[in-house]
Amino acid sequence: MEEQSLLQSYHSKALDLKNRVVMAPMTRSRAANDEKKPTAELQGRYYAQRASAGLIITEGSQVSEEAVGYVNTPGIHTQAQIEGWKTVTKKVHEEKGKIFIQLWHVGRMSHPDFHDGELPLAPSAINPEAESYTPDGFKDTVTPKAMTTADIKRTIDDFKKAAKNAMEAGFDGVEIHSSNGYLFHQFFNRTSNVRTDEYGGSIENRTRFFFEVLDAIKTVVPSHKIGARFNPSLHGVFGTTMDEETIPTFEYIIEKLNAHDLAYIHLSEPFTDVSDLPFAVTEIAKHFRPIYKGTLMINGGFDQQSGNAIIEAGNADLVSFAKLYISNPDLVERFAAHVEVADWDKDTFYTPGPEGYTDYPKATTTQNS
Ligand SMILES: Cc1cc2nc3c(=O)[nH]c(=O)nc-3n(C[C@H](O)[C@H](O)[C@H](O)COP(=O)(O)O)c2cc1C
Repeated sequence: MEEQSLLQSYHSKALDLKNRVVMAPMTRSRAANDEKKPTAELQGRYYAQRASAGLIITEGSQVSEEAVGYVNTPGIHTQAQIEGWKTVTKKVHEEKGKIFIQLWHVGRMSHPDFHDGELPLAPSAINPEAESYTPDGFKDTVTPKAMTTADIKRTIDDFKKAAKNAMEAGFDGVEIHSSNGYLFHQFFNRTSNVRTDEYGGSIENRTRFFFEVLDAIKTVVPSHKIGARFNPSLHGVFGTTMDEETIPTFEYIIEKLNAHDLAYIHLSEPFTDVSDLPFAVTEIAKHFRPIYKGTLMINGGFDQQSGNAIIEAGNADLVSFAKLYISNPDLVERFAAHVEVADWDKDTFYTPGPEGYTDYPKATTTQNS
């Protein structure tokens, strides 16, 4: 048996993974076509190259036209997009990989340029004072439109339809992108949600939208094929500001998720230094492990050594790697053979085409490309 914890298989009621190395979701902005659909040549090849991961989670994929907020990101709301994703899941499955799709709505991080001049949607009309990545480059965000109850109901339905589409496209599951300052996170935090209806105010109210979406998705996807992502100590990124109710809000959500029998929860360690914030948690996996009884995936700045260590310490079951997966398609094999990992080039994170995408070589020879 392989002694590295990361390379041990993982079996739960929901998951049957060949190892505990997960490819984290990453927007790569390569759906540079009118239909915003993935293709076998680009996304199919990219994900199949990385299929030795225990699990792949795709880039954030918009659940509707309204949900988009970055240039050339793929959607999962049209038939053309479903057909595109079918070619991706087929290639990954041929390589014996497993793949979930990340369902995304950016909320107020979007820009009117994506919506024929209409305002992006958000829980409240509060400008995140950040930058949006539009087809014409970075632009200042605007004050969004506060969602009406009808907007909320329609968005819940959009997530449900997108999840159903994901099943048609052959995905092994879906991950709700309730993280990183996007729409759900905007509902969770008091600084972005000042609503006075049943979606604002108390912790229960601010988390209602998330649980309504989860319940809607559960009508079309079994709960053991659903994951959810959270970044509880996100502060100062995409207009997200913590306060003393932020961590209790995430404790409430994560405790409540015990009853939902999900595939996993996917947590991120803080993206910035929050050690000076009295209400932030600096060690996310350690803090939330005793609260959550199901599968806990952790992310954020991990490498082979720290990834093995956090599993051994009992603070996580799975570790997801983002940037390392950009430049190391054979990350699992490199870990196994103790081969040095390659650096990523951030200049090609979001550029169109294969460069910096499907052209990172493998250092090991056990896999096809
Ligand atoms: C190019 C790039 C794109 C990203 N896109 C997404 C995304 O679409 N969805 C998401 O949840 N996180 C996204 N992230 C965040 C990563 O999943 C991850 O949380 C972060 O990079 C920290 O992990 P790492 O230290 O292993 O890179 C992105 C990160 C990078 C570098």
